Amino acid sequence: MRVPSVVFAIVAVLGGCGGDDSESDAPMDDQVADDAVPAEVTWYRDVQPIVGAKCASCHQDGGIGPFALTSYEAGAENAARMLHEVDRGAMPPFDAQEQADCTPRHGWVDDPRLTEAEKAILHAWVDGGKVAGDPVDFPLPAVPTLDNVSETLVPTVGWATSGDRDQFVCVLFDPMNTNQLKWLTGLQVNPDNDLVVHHAVITELDGTKPETQQLVAERGIGLPFECGEMATPADFVVHIWTPGNQPMETNGEIAVPILPNAKLVMQIHYHPAGTTHLPDKTSIDMRYSDTWPSKMYFVAAVGNAFEAPELLAGGSDRNGPEFRIPMNDELHAEHMRFTLGALENDIRLFSVNPHMHLLGTHIQATIERANPTAAQPARECLANGGWNFDWQRTYTYDTDLASLPAIAEGDVIDVKCEWNNSRSNPFMERMLADAGLGAPIDITLGEQTTNEMCLEIFGVSVNAPPRNGRISLETLKLAGTPPVAEVLKRTGTRRP
Ligand code: HEC
Repeated sequence: MRVPSVVFAIVAVLGGCGGDDSESDAPMDDQVADDAVPAEVTWYRDVQPIVGAKCASCHQDGGIGPFALTSYEAGAENAARMLHEVDRGAMPPFDAQEQADCTPRHGWVDDPRLTEAEKAILHAWVDGGKVAGDPVDFPLPAVPTLDNVSETLVPTVGWATSGDRDQFVCVLFDPMNTNQLKWLTGLQVNPDNDLVVHHAVITELDGTKPETQQLVAERGIGLPFECGEMATPADFVVHIWTPGNQPMETNGEIAVPILPNAKLVMQIHYHPAGTTHLPDKTSIDMRYSDTWPSKMYFVAAVGNAFEAPELLAGGSDRNGPEFRIPMNDELHAEHMRFTLGALENDIRLFSVNPHMHLLGTHIQATIERANPTAAQPARECLANGGWNFDWQRTYTYDTDLASLPAIAEGDVIDVKCEWNNSRSNPFMERMLADAGLGAPIDITLGEQTTNEMCLEIFGVSVNAPPRNGRISLETLKLAGTPPVAEVLKRTGTRRP
C-alpha cells in the first residue's frame, strides 16, 4: 500500500499555550551552581522533594512503576538503580535529546527530566552514605485537573486486562451535540486503574465517512474492543497521553475543531499486571468553548517518504533510494527532505509527536528556511529524540505563540530516522511474537506490525476562519501530494 509522504489532516494538539512556563529552561541550560548541593545531603530535606515531583507519579502504590519510591527505605534500597536510570536518561521517561547537530531552540512544556543540579543532589546523597535526616511527610504529586469541564466521556463497561500480555484496546465516543462544530480548549485523560494504563491515544474520526459509520455500527459507542497496536482508527490524532502528563489546555484564543458528527477514539495500551485488579474505565474530560478562536490547530505529518526525490539515497539501496531496513542491521538510517509548497500566512509549529513502530531507535527533524529572519533562523532543529514505542507522547514547545517556529513556502523539512532491526533491539521479540515470525526480516514502510514508519506529526497553529466561516484546509497546501488533496477535498465541503 502506498503510504502518503505528507498527510495533512485536520486538527489537534492543544496544550501548552498560555500554560505553565515554570520549567522554561531546557535542562541542558542548567548550570550546577557551587551552592546547589548542600554540604550534607539528606533524603527528607533534599532528595525526597525531587523524587516526589519527578518519579512518584508512577512510582507509588498502584502506579505503573515497578516499585514505589515513596519512603526513605525504598529510596535507600533502590538508590543505585535510581542513579543508573537517571544518568542514562531512561527515567523519568522522556525521549527528547539535545545533541550538537540538533538542539531545539525552545524547551518543552512539562519536561520531567532532572536538572543537572537535581542529579548532583542524588549523587551527593548516595556518596554521602544515604543520610535520612529529619523525617518529613512524603509529598505525593498533586493530581492535575482541568477546570470548567463540559463533559466527561466514560466507557459504558470496564475493560478487564488479560494480565499476561500487552493489550491495545479502543473505545469509540460520541462527543455531545455531534451535529454541531465544537471548539476544544482542554482535554484531560483520567486513568482509572493506574496499575495497568500505560498510555492513551485520542483520535478524531470523520463521522461522514462510511468507514466511521460502519465502525460505529460494529463496535458501538462506549464499548471497549481490542484493536491492535498499529491499528487505531484515526482521521487525525487529537492527543497522546502518558502517565504524569498535565491536562492539555489552551487559552480560548486557540482551539481544536471537533467537527460535526465526529467520533472520538480512545486507544489505551494496557500493561500486563496480573489478573487480580478491577476492570479499567479510563475516562476523558473535555472542555469546549463557544468563543470563536483566532487560531486553530491542525496536524501536519511530515515523513514516510518511500521514494526519491524526498527519500535520499542510503547505503543499502538496491535500485535507487528505497525505504528498506535490512534484516539484522543494528543501525539503519533513512533520510528524507520535503520542500514546502505555497502556504497560508503565519503558520506556526506548536508541538511535535514523533511516530515510528516497534524497532525505531532515533528520530529527528530540522528546518532550512528559504527566507530566514532574525526571529526565524536559517536552520533550526525542530525535534530530536530517542524512540521508545512504549513512551510515545506529544512534545509541546515551551514558548509564546510569537516565538514558535514558523514554516513558509520554499522551506525544507529534513527528517532522519534510525532503526535496529536485529535481536539486540529489546522490542524485536515483541515484534516477532506479534507478527508470528521466527526471525528478523527486511522491513519496509507501511502500517503493519512488520512495517516501520518515520514520521514527525506536527501540531500546527493557523489563523482561524472568520466567525461562522467554514473550516477548510484548502489554503493549507503543504505539499500538494495526492493524499493532501484528498484530505482537503473531504474536509473542505463541511460547514460548521
Ligand atoms: C511516567 C511514569 C514513570 C516516571 C515518572 C518514572 N518512572 Fe521509573 N519506571 C516506570 C516504569 C513503567 C518502569 C518499568 C520499566 C519500563 O516500563 O520502562 C520504571 C522502571 C524504573 C526503574 C527500574 C529499571 C530497571 O530496569 O531496573 C528505576 C530504577 C526507575 N524506574 C527509577 C525512576 C526514577 C528515579 C524516576 C524519577 C527520577 C522515575 N523512575 C520516574 C515509570 C516511571
